[in-house]
Amino acid sequence: MADHISRVDEELRQVVQSDEPFLTEVARHLIDAGGKRVRPALTITASLVTTDDPGPAGYDAIRGGVAVELVHQGSLYHDDVIDGADTRRTVESVNSRFGNLEAILAGDYLLARASQIAADLGTEVAALLAGTIACLCEGQVREIGSAFDVDRTEAAYLESIAGKTAALLATAARIGGIVADLSRPEVEALTSFGHHYGMAFQVVDDVLDLTATDGQLGKPAGNDLCEGVYTLPVIRALEGPSGDELRCMLGGAIDPATRDRVLEILRGDESLATSMATAIEFTGTASDALDVLPHTPAVATLRQTCDLLLSRVDAVSGV
Ligand code: IPE
Ligand code: IPE
Ligand code: MG
Ligand code: MG
Repeated sequence: MADHISRVDEELRQVVQSDEPFLTEVARHLIDAGGKRVRPALTITASLVTTDDPGPAGYDAIRGGVAVELVHQGSLYHDDVIDGADTRRTVESVNSRFGNLEAILAGDYLLARASQIAADLGTEVAALLAGTIACLCEGQVREIGSAFDVDRTEAAYLESIAGKTAALLATAARIGGIVADLSRPEVEALTSFGHHYGMAFQVVDDVLDLTATDGQLGKPAGNDLCEGVYTLPVIRALEGPSGDELRCMLGGAIDPATRDRVLEILRGDESLATSMATAIEFTGTASDALDVLPHTPAVATLRQTCDLLLSRVDAVSGV
């Protein structure tokens, strides 16, 4: 996979090149900062699921991976403006380094470059990616709509993360299947894998926000509480034995001392473990979706990706 990802990185740097040198610089800021490249890895692996002896991935799979990573990064540029986050991928966020206006414009620029590549890959991919960007906006708007709402429901949370995160992971896997010309049932299986993996991915990210440190994440930890984004563990803890105490502290802006007290309560509450149980369920459903595919190395890799995701939480906290 390392070879594939270096092809993705090379292509990423090339496609964001602009006649306007400042835009190139801002657009390359996060590409150069690193990141896990989960989405292009998913596209590339999905493109290889029917191959017994996978060699290098096709150029269309690489380009598909580049398109989804560009959408992801564009959404991060905008997300960090929305969340007022000052670090990302261990470096200064784009908004913090260059300013909010620049981050918004460069985020748009990344989305535009992604759309160009998607158009090259055909009408189906172009329409799919455009629809996915719409889902991302819907998910984010749902999140903003329930900010600081101590009565946010699990259903509202799940609906939001389906749009803001799972939609793009489902599309990442689906594009891999489409560009590899797989059968429709195979493409559907990959899409279902991506969706359920994506749901687990955001639950894990939300657990880590409450349990890890800035250094471990490379982005601000505990920010969701400050922004009033009450994620699955918080929603469940509000219903649990510490619910009344939490309710008094949440619902509006909080100072650092209150945030630390909330974190302390959450870390002692079973809601973190039950949220991980939910993430495990999602990865189980993701894995089950692969059952219709042949037993190939790429399918095994997808299953391992689920274990790897869950192990991120053990690595920081032992929840
Ligand atoms: C962060 O995504 C945004 C979420 C959907 C949680 P990643 O965790 O994939 O971020 P990078 O790409 O590795 O920086
Ligand atoms: C994911 O949610 C946002 C996007 C899909 C862009 P978060 O707000 O939790 O992402 P991080 O934690 O800032 O990476
Ligand atoms: Mg954020
Ligand atoms: Mg987060």
